[in-house]
Amino acid sequence: MTKIKRLKWGVTIAAAQTEGAYDIDGRGASIWDTFTEKSYKIKDGSNAKIATDFYHKFKEDIDLAVDIGLQIFRFSISWSRILPEGIGEINPQGIKFYNQVIDYCIQVGIEPWITAYHWDLPQKLQDKGGWTNREIVNWYAVYVAILRDHFADRVTHWILINEGIVCIGGGYFLGVHAPGKRGIRNFISSTHHLLLAQAKGFTVLKEKSGLQVGTAVSCTKIEPYGNTIRDRVAANKIDALMNRLFIEPHLGLGYPDGDLPFLKRISKYYKEGDLEALKTDFDFIGIQTYTREVVKAAWYIPYLGAIQIKSQNRNVTPSVMGWETYPEGAQYFLERFAKYDSNKPLWLSECGMALAADEDDQERINYYQKIIKITETVSHKGINLKGVLLWTLVDNFEWAEGYIPKFGIVRFDRKTLQRQIKKSGLWFKKYLSEIK
Ligand code: NOJ
Repeated sequence: MTKIKRLKWGVTIAAAQTEGAYDIDGRGASIWDTFTEKSYKIKDGSNAKIATDFYHKFKEDIDLAVDIGLQIFRFSISWSRILPEGIGEINPQGIKFYNQVIDYCIQVGIEPWITAYHWDLPQKLQDKGGWTNREIVNWYAVYVAILRDHFADRVTHWILINEGIVCIGGGYFLGVHAPGKRGIRNFISSTHHLLLAQAKGFTVLKEKSGLQVGTAVSCTKIEPYGNTIRDRVAANKIDALMNRLFIEPHLGLGYPDGDLPFLKRISKYYKEGDLEALKTDFDFIGIQTYTREVVKAAWYIPYLGAIQIKSQNRNVTPSVMGWETYPEGAQYFLERFAKYDSNKPLWLSECGMALAADEDDQERINYYQKIIKITETVSHKGINLKGVLLWTLVDNFEWAEGYIPKFGIVRFDRKTLQRQIKKSGLWFKKYLSEIK
């Protein structure tokens, strides 16, 4: 039997979901500040002006992660805290804040990881078209260079862009996430520019030696509703959209427009050399997975030709997110990504379970037990899995779902801002101390 290397365990958080302090110390507005002004866009009418106040409570949160025994603290940088206008003047107080976070992690013995972009574009850049404007490739490169120059002396692991499909699909196709844009033209131009930006960001970071630079890909297992050719074709289309579009162009496989023909329209936005420029030999790939979807052929749905069978209409209990909780997807995607390149280091850079406030946290323990089992199975199979980052530490602002879903292993009281480790957090603490 292959000897399993010990995996690393950590946690992931994101600036827009936790920091709060939205107008403090020179921070500029982000598209999520603007989007949440329309409170009807958010299920509980909330916003992230305060969120979990990580800006002021970061030491407490990092201490909690250390106390639980986690080894990695992955956080994202708010672009508009560093560059209030998106480009131009650097905000020294923004640099200072993240220096403090990084230094504190190092001081207490947890490894800081940076996500350069986790969906909170500066509003000033959105005013210029945001991801639909090809200039963003340069804006992003300049931003990443600033992060590199200030933080890469102490941070080795970098994730360039978090979940392109959710960012662009939600924000520029369906309009359910900031900036609330819709339509095919917005979607395909933004997709191409985001991928180009990520590829360029990679070369910018790699100008400094010794860094480990990767991406984080949203992965949702897609299954056909019926065993018919039409449903299988529909499932392949949605799979191309959800699971291949934001990784295959980087792997040199081009856009998956064979299975999803409308992607051919992206070529309208190509410039000479783009497909080559997209190729990126990431040092690692982060897989992020939560759920599974079942789809059925539907000729009347433009571009996609498929509809989703909602989880409440299937034989599963939907979580408070409305989706099926599906830890098994972790195994499926780790095996699938290993087929692209069996040597490439893989991380489960996010996984987790949403519960409602009144649901039993034991469910989360059961979920993570399944994840642990899967990590053992895939490691025995020789898959190059390096570790797992939990989503998430403290319950926080879940985008359009507001504060309703609870993903944390630490409870959070919005009135008092107090944190309290949940049963699942204590369970993790015990587990991590046992595998040491
Ligand atoms: C993935 C995203 O990266 C994160 O921001 C979000 O909160 C979780 N999924 C849960 O939906």
